[in-house]
Amino acid sequence: MTPIFTVPVSLAERSYEITIRAGLLEKLGSELKRRAVKGKVAVVTDRRVARHYLKNVSETIKRHGIEPVPIILAPGERSKTLKTVESVLDVLARHRFERSSLLLALGGGVVGDIAGFAASIYQRGMSYIQVPTTLVAQVDSSVGGKTGVDHRLGKNLIGSFFQPRAVLIDPLVLRTLPTREWVAGLAEVIKYGIIADESFFFYLQRYMPDLLNQVPRVVSTVVKRSCEIKAEVVSADERESDRRRILNYGHTIGHALEALSGYQSLVHGEAVGIGLVQEADLACFQGWCSHEVVEGIRRIVKAAGLNDNMPRRWTPSKIWKAMLHDKKVAGGRVIGVWPSRIGEVRMAPLEEPVFNRWHAASQTI
Ligand SMILES: NC(=O)c1ccc[n+]([C@@H]2O[C@H](COP(=O)([O-])OP(=O)(O)OC[C@H]3O[C@@H](n4cnc5c(N)ncnc54)[C@H](O)[C@@H]3O)[C@@H](O)[C@H]2O)c1
Ligand SMILES: [Zn+2]
Repeated sequence: MTPIFTVPVSLAERSYEITIRAGLLEKLGSELKRRAVKGKVAVVTDRRVARHYLKNVSETIKRHGIEPVPIILAPGERSKTLKTVESVLDVLARHRFERSSLLLALGGGVVGDIAGFAASIYQRGMSYIQVPTTLVAQVDSSVGGKTGVDHRLGKNLIGSFFQPRAVLIDPLVLRTLPTREWVAGLAEVIKYGIIADESFFFYLQRYMPDLLNQVPRVVSTVVKRSCEIKAEVVSADERESDRRRILNYGHTIGHALEALSGYQSLVHGEAVGIGLVQEADLACFQGWCSHEVVEGIRRIVKAAGLNDNMPRRWTPSKIWKAMLHDKKVAGGRVIGVWPSRIGEVRMAPLEEPVFNRWHAASQTI
């Protein structure tokens, strides 16, 4: 038997609970009923997720006297636009959804971000529940209330903070996830160990083979601990003024590589995997952590099947420019997150000459 976990996200009157339970999707109807959901529910999903799960989800919802209204989007980051949000709003309006109605976001981070944003602006905010179906969405994007879409001038440029009413996680749905998506999600999981919990890092080291084989008990435990860490950080700083920035560890270099690759050759988690190792190396270069920390991070990133090397195809000045383009910038300096040991990070600015010296030194190895 895999355990059922609940993780509280404490945000005053916007508090909610994350429920993690193998097989939950089959019981979604009773989960909604338990939350006194009635009438119509908008189910926003994408074509791929719909193919796997929409029929069963619709049936369990109907069995509990609730009427699902499916809104099926094209899969992939390209859908994350205002235009798609508008198409979701059209359906909500046409079906006369009310502010008190519920929207379900059934899918990965793309669906969650779009659906959450649509919910946040429809009639100035309707209630929504995240039902994340990728590892990235289960451990990261569904928790914390960041919603939004991309603009042609930047990723996630338009959006809002809008907390869901609940997050309902079924780890069993990860079985149908393509391997590349699964492995990419592991980068975020490893990040949590590095930024906040040494013993979780050791757990991941020990159980990585089981995790890669998707042993249900291990997957549930990993999703739960990741959600706890994200929930703790978000509760302490809902709107990313300070503490929440530690979640950006691995993302300063990660986002830059992802952008340089045109969001094509590297998916987000793959870029973050490289970022976890390379930012630790940069921290070590500045004397802020030991070589052992860097090597420990490198070993686990590689064990997860992720790449750890800085791609050689971009010059340091190109990478620096891409880093400056990111949001974590203050007055021409990049605010980085640096490990001091496993389980503990600090924030400090990084300047271009230091980055260049590090880059030159690491190229000669
Ligand atoms: N809001 C936040 O705090 C936050 C945090 C991290 C990432 N994000 C966003 O999340 C997005 C990335 O999310 P993602 O990695 O989940 O990608 P995604 O939503 O594009 O999903 C990846 C692919 O997997 C498919 N898929 C989803 N669940 C599946 C399942 N169970 N079985 C088979 N296929 C399945 C999808 O159709 C899609 O093709 C990015 O847009 C990123 O900006 C947001
Ligand atoms: Zn990320």
